[in-house]
Amino acid sequence: MAKLIEILLGDIYIQSFIIGLILAAFLSKLSKRTNLNEPPLVYYRIPLIGHTWSYLKDCDKLILESREKYGETFSLYVFGQIMTIVGKETIHEVLKKDQDFSFREGINMQIPMHLIFVHLTLTEENFKMVRDFVGGKLKHLISRLQKNIINAIDFHIGECVEPKVISYPRKTLTDIIAIPVANIIVGEECCNNEDMLETFKNLTFSLLKLFRIPRILSFIHPWLHQQIITITLRFGWNPFSKHRNLILNCIKPVIEKRLNDKKRLGDAWVDPLDALQCYLNDPNVAPDFNPNNINYDYIADGIGRLIFASIATTSSSATQVLYDLIERKQLYWQELYQEAQEINKQCNGNELTFNDIARMVKLDSFVKESLRFINPIVTLPHKCISKSYFTFANGYQIPSGRIVGLNFRDTNNDEELQGQNPTEFYAFRHLERNSPATKLERNFLTFGGGKHACPGRALAINEIKIFIHKVLLKYDVRTDNKEIEAKKKIFRTISCASRC
Ligand code: HEM
Repeated sequence: MAKLIEILLGDIYIQSFIIGLILAAFLSKLSKRTNLNEPPLVYYRIPLIGHTWSYLKDCDKLILESREKYGETFSLYVFGQIMTIVGKETIHEVLKKDQDFSFREGINMQIPMHLIFVHLTLTEENFKMVRDFVGGKLKHLISRLQKNIINAIDFHIGECVEPKVISYPRKTLTDIIAIPVANIIVGEECCNNEDMLETFKNLTFSLLKLFRIPRILSFIHPWLHQQIITITLRFGWNPFSKHRNLILNCIKPVIEKRLNDKKRLGDAWVDPLDALQCYLNDPNVAPDFNPNNINYDYIADGIGRLIFASIATTSSSATQVLYDLIERKQLYWQELYQEAQEINKQCNGNELTFNDIARMVKLDSFVKESLRFINPIVTLPHKCISKSYFTFANGYQIPSGRIVGLNFRDTNNDEELQGQNPTEFYAFRHLERNSPATKLERNFLTFGGGKHACPGRALAINEIKIFIHKVLLKYDVRTDNKEIEAKKKIFRTISCASRC
């Protein structure tokens, strides 16, 4: 009996604790109400749940209806917190005011990068390194990029004399894209290491999988969910650790050899063209030629962060372009094939140069149109990092710490920004405006904007163009399950057959 009472009392204590927690969370949320001129909060019926259900179930409908009713800037109550949604006018304020809004901090709330890549303390320097490397060296990387893409296509798709079915194109394209990207990030010496290549292929997906924990505790308070997703990291278990060790084992001997060669050869030494060398040229990371003074962990975490930023983004974009091309085969395949053939003829079947790729203007416009539609309706969460609050040009104010989601559809559906029939896929829309895929404009948000826009975009676009160019010339591609609904597109199989 005493035991039973003890158990019951225990239960009561637990229940009281949980109720107390919920009340405390509620009170703390109420007390946080501000006197700011906040954007209108879209009406909702069920307290705590707010708009979460409709946000998950039919986000498009929720956003489009709210936009119509409340205007360009409004707030939703999702997963226990208020999120402000901004449309086509205000998006650019968020992207440009990097003192007030941070994508890096916004994304850290979903995937705690700062706790995964702990040694990458200089994130801004890492960003600038990629920007300068891609901006300054891409022309000289084209030859290697191309060779590696051709080898990767041969290896993963092959000749296809008999038509070959690719059951999971997204995975095949990840395997293909990983090869040229590894070559450019870790260099010729490490990129063929099988384990390294596996890390390039799998790192992003293995990390994303871990943080897809249902956000139930957010309903009590978002802080609780943050504690849950970071608990293992804070107690020392980091899913990146095994990748870090592998990267370190691979790059250490290469770094030592490069430093020795540089010392030995003096002025005759030529820097290898890869991100690894960029880290070695940074005096914060490698202050002298002494291998003992290198910040190896910083380099390994920097490489991990680059893999995360580059592989899944580029491979899913390339997959989308391929699907769009197959889906609109009647309309565009022949025209793009002719452009590819002409360029191929002009360079006598030799390697493409940077300028040859720039001359693929129809393909460029096709890629840009494909990427215009690739994002979900609301994306690129930015955290407001102003001192106490931020005032938008439209007069609305939000407190510091608020997550702001960008309503991409508002830009995509706008006739003034996109030209005629903005909701339809028109491949040469950007060609007519003479706007290449790497150009950041108010009507194209896939690479973000402002000072922190994606620094790797030129590399990604060139990779995708080379890949599609080779596919156009080499294969006849079709999909067998055209009827599959848009959301499940990534599960479409495709089949490739040799053109001759
Ligand atoms: C089609 C492929 C890609 C897409 C759609 C994409 C998109 C983006 C977006 C939207 C951002 C955030 C921009 C902002 O804050 O406004 C970003 C940041 C970034 N991207 Fe890309 N990206 C792609 C490929 C690449 C590649 C190939 C690289 C590397 C070579 C790269 C490296 C980065 C880095 C380092 C950042 C900054 C992350 C930070 O803030 O620390 N991206 N990218």
